Amino acid sequence: MARPLCWRFLLIHLTLILSTSLLFATESHEEQEQDTPITRFQSYLRIKTAHPEPDYSSAVSFLKSLAHSIGIQSQTLEFSPGKPVLLLTWPGSNPSLPSLLFNSHLDSVPAEPSKWVHPPFSAVRTSDGKIFARGAQDDKCIAMQYLEAIRNLKQKKFVPTRTIHISYVPDEEIGGVDGAAKFAASKEFRDLNVGFVLDEGQASPGDEFRVFYADRIPWHMKIKAKGQPGHGSRMYDNSAMENLMKSCELVSRFRESHFDVVKAGIAANSEVISINPVYVKAGVPSPTGFVMNVQPSEAEAGFDLRLTPTTDPDELKRRIAEEWAPATRNMSYEIKETGPIRDNMGRPLMTATNDSNPWWLVFKQAITSAGEKLAKPEILSSTTDARYMRQTGVPVLGFSPMKNTPILLHDHNEHLQDTVYMSGIKVYESVISSLSSFTEASD
Ligand SMILES: *[C@@H]1O[C@H](CO)[C@@H](O)[C@H](O)[C@H]1NC(C)=O
Ligand SMILES: *[C@@H]1O[C@H](CO)[C@@H](O)[C@H](O)[C@H]1NC(C)=O
Ligand SMILES: [Zn+2]
Repeated sequence: MARPLCWRFLLIHLTLILSTSLLFATESHEEQEQDTPITRFQSYLRIKTAHPEPDYSSAVSFLKSLAHSIGIQSQTLEFSPGKPVLLLTWPGSNPSLPSLLFNSHLDSVPAEPSKWVHPPFSAVRTSDGKIFARGAQDDKCIAMQYLEAIRNLKQKKFVPTRTIHISYVPDEEIGGVDGAAKFAASKEFRDLNVGFVLDEGQASPGDEFRVFYADRIPWHMKIKAKGQPGHGSRMYDNSAMENLMKSCELVSRFRESHFDVVKAGIAANSEVISINPVYVKAGVPSPTGFVMNVQPSEAEAGFDLRLTPTTDPDELKRRIAEEWAPATRNMSYEIKETGPIRDNMGRPLMTATNDSNPWWLVFKQAITSAGEKLAKPEILSSTTDARYMRQTGVPVLGFSPMKNTPILLHDHNEHLQDTVYMSGIKVYESVISSLSSFTEASD
């Protein structure tokens, strides 16, 4: 039975009053006015950097003034109009040694405010210490932790041997073509003489940090079929739909064979090629939907493909051309590659995580010294700007120090625990000081 209308109004009002007062209770006026690592993080989170209109200029001015306040030099590079790359530099005592680069992206993905318990750009900190904001995990946390770690190291009078750079790049969330891709290919980047890069990683639900030595490579694949149109009642060979369905069966079998390896526990999700259908386009439109008694002359399907770093791209293209979209069945295909597959020397885009990479050993040791643990290095399922940096041949690890944290990037209610954020600063203090004091690496 429905309640009388006035009761419902009263309830709505009560809920509103309660939630508003809760909002104020979680963040006292006093806390707002203090200048602490947490309030600085909140201020950065409040800058509206979501696509499609990321406010790059506010983000850059905020970071720049923070850098200047701790005596760090800055320069703003612009490889595409309106898309700044902010570069901060803490010169080392031996600037002839290869430098270190700590990268993060300025932009965020959009959020649907109605699906959030706190507005996505409010950076509300709840009484149990959760900071809610789009970008809290991806990746404004590391952006600020780099700077906070340097602030602390400077206070402790630490002097870096190697020069330390921090870069803030635009457009990572839309492919990085006008951001990291151009930056990594620039003269300015070459002039930095970078020896090792840390870029973003992902949260870890367990108590070990995750670290990523490669990204999978995305391909957007379209398969198109053509064929004789005909009456819906006729069975005949080689219609466009029939040809496309044959291909879908083959793709599906390929998908199963890789997925089975994951299901059997032999490989992780990111260690196999994934392929998922994302759209199907076919049919003759009618005012009420589709004409039901015509077999169409064209049909098309789209797939999201993710290659592992060691996938042979030519081999895969051969399979597509010969099996999935053979011209002999009136089929064609298109592949949109969204980034490099090999580095400038033709090697897979992977960073060694063994004794052959001295940077890895120093990084690992720095994590241990901070009293923390690293999980087994992984391939990232998705893609980051790290691939453009790896393309130059420089070793790059993906790392965001968030443990005991649910993975919420791109999700509703993205948040980060304040204590996790604070301990990340300590981790970077250890990482930055160890790497910048390390002088053995020959190149
Ligand atoms: C290719 O298309 C042509 C023209 O529609 C058709 O006659 C032929 O049967 C098709 N062949 C195959 C193998 O689908
Ligand atoms: C280290 O790993 C790389 C690839 O990740 C491999 O090619 C190399 O053989 C390994 N080296 C050692 C010393 O284990
Ligand atoms: Zn990110």
